[in-house]
Amino acid sequence: MSPTTAGTTAFDLTDPTTFVRHDPLAFWARMRDHDPVHWHEGRDGRPGFWVVSRYADVLAAYTDAARLGSARGTVLDVLLHGDDSAGGRMLAVTDRPRHRDLRTVMLRAFSPRVLGAVVERVERRAAELVRDVTGAGSFDFAAEVAEHIPLGTICDLLSIPAADRPDLLRWNKSALSSDDAEADPYAALEARNEILLYFVDLVERRRAAPGDDVVSMIAAAEVDGAPLSVEDVALNCYSLILGGDESSRVSAICAVKAFADFPDQWRAVRDGEVSLDTAVEEVLRWATPAMHFARTATTDLEIGGRRIRAGSVVTLWNTSANFDERQFDRPERFDPARTPNKHVSFGHGPHFCLGAHLGRAELRALLTALAGTVSGIEATGTPRRVYSTFLNGHSTMPVAFTAR
Ligand code: HEM
Repeated sequence: MSPTTAGTTAFDLTDPTTFVRHDPLAFWARMRDHDPVHWHEGRDGRPGFWVVSRYADVLAAYTDAARLGSARGTVLDVLLHGDDSAGGRMLAVTDRPRHRDLRTVMLRAFSPRVLGAVVERVERRAAELVRDVTGAGSFDFAAEVAEHIPLGTICDLLSIPAADRPDLLRWNKSALSSDDAEADPYAALEARNEILLYFVDLVERRRAAPGDDVVSMIAAAEVDGAPLSVEDVALNCYSLILGGDESSRVSAICAVKAFADFPDQWRAVRDGEVSLDTAVEEVLRWATPAMHFARTATTDLEIGGRRIRAGSVVTLWNTSANFDERQFDRPERFDPARTPNKHVSFGHGPHFCLGAHLGRAELRALLTALAGTVSGIEATGTPRRVYSTFLNGHSTMPVAFTAR
């Protein structure tokens, strides 16, 4: 083993503090160069797993759903502690052929008719939130703005009654333990159960009196010739919150942090010198909200010349692929004008993010609101990093916006 490789194995990718203490860019560059398909030894009685870091290998692995399955789980922390209990029932952790049928049903939530109205409301919400904090001195962008966009959007998507939203918001906050190293995991579990029970109740109500909303549509659909159980509809409704809330929030926070860090780039976006669409893609690459997704090999296979045995866990590191110099020109540079920009922040292949259009629309609404209202973006404190091996980004962002 070369000293460099030895250096890379010193990182424990199962420990959230690793991502807070070390410089990930330098670490992943070393991995891509010296050990691009790396065997990570198991620790504390947990199994070992493969770590794939080059863009081309990550893309090929996302595409190869036939040999790299999702049904045992797709997040390292879950996989190392056993199988995902939602496997085969929740879209993200279901394999073909059921995955394809379930995805067709879930896609109804994202029809142009539904999305058009939801996006309009996102744009209004973003404009109001940004207007309220501009010129008001220092504030926490995470708490005052970013937190209020994604969950409201998913509630709009699912036509959640306004009266139920405060409960959902409160449960969702305690369900997310990644903000805080000291968070009580049992309180988080209880909150997740509350959300699931809420959706079970909602699905039963919509089955009894169907409307033309998304929950009613999913509840009425058939997969494999049979209607979905109430629990499975509820689970898949909840999965939209799981998939779309935190990821959208950290990408919004990342946008503001990046513009505070690179004021020249902010000025170019603000003054219309750079297209908002390319800026959105670069924010997504720069943020890479989901650090990794995982798969389980369903057969023996080869990745990047390494032999992977059936049953092995294979982790695909988006945070590395999106900064691979073999794919991106000067990847360490935040460049809102970057084209092409084929990042893997939304994954790739059969499990490509179902909410990508909405995720992009939320960021576009934020950038539009900022460009229309804000002249200067200045950091006023140190943002706090999220404590996780999965979610990448910050949970606070002290900042001040000056008005245009
Ligand atoms: C899947 C990222 C927003 C719902 C995924 C995957 C990624 C991702 C990387 C692929 C997972 C895999 O291959 O195993 C993101 C990011 C977002 C975002 C970075 C925001 C910036 C959303 C939103 C929703 C959503 C807003 C819903 C409203 C889902 C669902 C899947 C998924 C349901 C599973 C798709 C499948 O397995 O077929 N997301 N997502 N996501 N995402 Fe997103």
